[in-house]
Amino acid sequence: MSSKLVQVSVILSLIRTSVVDYYRLPTGYGDWRDDLEAQGYAVVKGAISPEKAQHYQQKAFEWLNTFDPDLDPNNPSTYNADKLPIQTNRNTYEHYAVVHERFMWEARMEPGILDPFEKVWGTHKLLVSFDSLNVTLPNLKPARTPWPHIDQAPRKRGLHCIQGIINLSHAGPEDGSLVVVPGSHKLVERFFDEKTDPSEWEWRDNRYFDDKDMEFFEGQGLSPMKVLAEPGDLILWDSRTIHWGGEPTKKSTVPRTVIYAAYAPAKLASKDAIEEKARVFKVNGATTHWPHDNIKLRDLHAYLPDGTIDPRNRDKPLEKAEHSDRLLKLAGVMAY
Ligand SMILES: *[C@@H]1O[C@H](CO)[C@@H](O)[C@H](O)[C@H]1NC(C)=O
Ligand SMILES: *[C@@H]1O[C@H](CO)[C@@H](O)[C@H](O)[C@H]1NC(C)=O
Repeated sequence: MSSKLVQVSVILSLIRTSVVDYYRLPTGYGDWRDDLEAQGYAVVKGAISPEKAQHYQQKAFEWLNTFDPDLDPNNPSTYNADKLPIQTNRNTYEHYAVVHERFMWEARMEPGILDPFEKVWGTHKLLVSFDSLNVTLPNLKPARTPWPHIDQAPRKRGLHCIQGIINLSHAGPEDGSLVVVPGSHKLVERFFDEKTDPSEWEWRDNRYFDDKDMEFFEGQGLSPMKVLAEPGDLILWDSRTIHWGGEPTKKSTVPRTVIYAAYAPAKLASKDAIEEKARVFKVNGATTHWPHDNIKLRDLHAYLPDGTIDPRNRDKPLEKAEHSDRLLKLAGVMAY
């Protein structure tokens, strides 16, 4: 290559680095960080102790018991779908201020959960999402068909967001768990460019893939896999990695219990996003999976199937978390 060409390609790669690769994941550590970069997801084993995981799961169960005192999540004969709090269509709980219950905040603030995100982003000045709780009682509802999606708008290029699941229950082959398409984070941009019309790209940080779309990824040799995990494990994934919440099989007996929590550097958030985040915090609301962008207050009320507001609505948590400086900074309410 002539030196002119080398110069041009160096400049081009610099532009690529700053524009396309918004942030480069640290690699070469021989641990989960390499998986996150290469596969688009990773499991941090034992991020919290099994005892802690059990404690948080117990708190989640107790929270359900405030709606149905007779419910024992480990005993299917006690399941009564009509008494459970209203779930989103993704089977998660985000109403009744659950997102701000003390156990949810304590789990998000566990050093073993914060640490991997601090390593990934190279800073402890992070924001956390006000994201939901998932307790799925096995065999209570008909299984949902796979719903492959990413949580990043096609227009956004490079890495923007890393999502997390704090796993509080066993996830074996028969149980509900996260399903990912390893390696898809590196191919979605090509998919959008080659197979879709940019005029149809939405700004929403969410894009579903139908069977036809999935053929592209299968054609590249990729296939879905269920992430198996133990209580206390933390699952991380790049928002560009195709994923969905995998259903338990009929054989599962595990009430799947997970807390969604994503973290990003506070400096990536705009002033507007920070203001909106503080507003959502004040009303004990939930947002999306995103901690620093795409901040929107989700509906505060749960609605009954007949469309009326659930009289069991709560506008504040039953047990309020201690509003320490650390919490307020993670929430975007106090500046770093
Ligand atoms: C919650 O967990 C259940 C069981 O694994 C799963 O079917 C559902 O999709 C999950 N929800 C999300 C948002 O992943
Ligand atoms: C989740 O927790 C269960 C129970 O401890 C464990 O068996 C499973 O491997 C964990 N899954 C992940 C992805 O961390």
